[in-house]
Amino acid sequence: MSDSQHKPGSDKLWGGRFSEQAAASLEAFTASIQYDFRLYHHDIMGSKAHARMLAQQGLITPEENESIQRGLDEIEEEIRAGRFQFRQDLEDIHMNIESALTARIGEAGARLHTGRSRNDQINLDMRLFLRDECATLDQLLADLQACFARLARKHLGAIMPGYTHMQRAQPVLLSHHLLAYAAMFGRDRERLADCARRINVLSLGAAALAGTGLPLDRTQVAKELGFPKISENSMDTVADRDFVLETLFCLDLIQLHLSRLSEELVLWSSKEFAFVRIGDRYCTGSSLMPQKKNPDIPELVRGKSGRVTGALISLLTTMKGLPLTYNRDLQEDKEPLFDALDTVKASLAITAEMLDDTVFDVDRMRAATEGGFMTATDLADYLVKKNLPFRQAHGVAGRIVARCQELGCELADLSLEEMRAFSPLIGSDVYESLSVEGSVNSRTTLGGTAQFRVEEALSALEQQLGIQP
Ligand code: ARG
Repeated sequence: MSDSQHKPGSDKLWGGRFSEQAAASLEAFTASIQYDFRLYHHDIMGSKAHARMLAQQGLITPEENESIQRGLDEIEEEIRAGRFQFRQDLEDIHMNIESALTARIGEAGARLHTGRSRNDQINLDMRLFLRDECATLDQLLADLQACFARLARKHLGAIMPGYTHMQRAQPVLLSHHLLAYAAMFGRDRERLADCARRINVLSLGAAALAGTGLPLDRTQVAKELGFPKISENSMDTVADRDFVLETLFCLDLIQLHLSRLSEELVLWSSKEFAFVRIGDRYCTGSSLMPQKKNPDIPELVRGKSGRVTGALISLLTTMKGLPLTYNRDLQEDKEPLFDALDTVKASLAITAEMLDDTVFDVDRMRAATEGGFMTATDLADYLVKKNLPFRQAHGVAGRIVARCQELGCELADLSLEEMRAFSPLIGSDVYESLSVEGSVNSRTTLGGTAQFRVEEALSALEQQLGIQP
């Protein structure tokens, strides 16, 4: 770079108008290379497409393009192999790569940034990066859904208490409960796919904020990078991090779903419930109490949901007061995003692994459906079928429950006479309605817990996931 050689002041890539060197404290405070190095692959991918387009538009020669392509490939290889020296004084991933390129290939490297600003470059990098991350997340979510499908298939027919207010409410199939989680993670996949549509937009070409007078071909770059859309307003483009916020929300909701599941696993693995035994390989012990076996994985997954919510709130707060267009504040999007991604990916993977090594005690679950008058609703519904208005049926069933409590017995322990004292509509067929199996299988509405409905839902999920039952 012949120009910079007789420059009196700053030796930065942007140093032309400066008469002094940057303070070391400024360099340390403003640098992002310690975390944005993660974007190297996508930064290089974007630069290669940009350079090809520059050559096609006659803004650089074919030879210059070739040496840029080769230089960038070599740099990528060095970074991948851990041989690249990142420099804090070069601020960020863009300038680290650009200056390494220019040092390697000379003037052609200095032409790469033609018609481009770091403002649109970072936006592009984040979009390319997140596109891949969304695909990874989708796979992890599908793996977890498959894990629930396997468990649901394995335990089909097992009955457990379903809860509301954390009180035993109505008997349900364990498989139905498990498939509830598969449904949540299915929605998470849809949400991410929708978010990915807005990520998948080419932002390069907005330049600093206003577009450029140089004859760039954005359509060509979009095609090469596989973007189905090109951003419309250059000012909005460089100021926009909505797609990062949306991703963070998706991540937060995934972690929240994991956290709810974890809470159940913590409860269910307690002696009080003893519905599940998490494999020894996925539990820890106490340094003091020799008998302890602790469910640290679900506890940490639950705990980390606070951290992912924090990431979302952090960037929402950063964004809320920003005037158009680019402001350096936007650099603060990366650490929360990267941390949230790492946290959610690790949580998804370990949860699936642990669930595969978890034993469900279906006898314990079945036993827990006894003794709580869990089929009282079925008794009321039975009376409704005999044409009693529901509100009155509810009252009759409630009085029968109270009677059983007095006698210390179950609903089905009452004789027909004893029951008929509460309502003459009750006949001997009532006992079918009072069994937990009868109760479960009577819930035949779409989405209900009757075994054939659960089997339908399970088959649909297996088909969607491409797994053989
Ligand atoms: N490191 C910056 C960021 O993450 C890159 C863009 C810098 N642009 C600028 N005009 N200083 O946002």
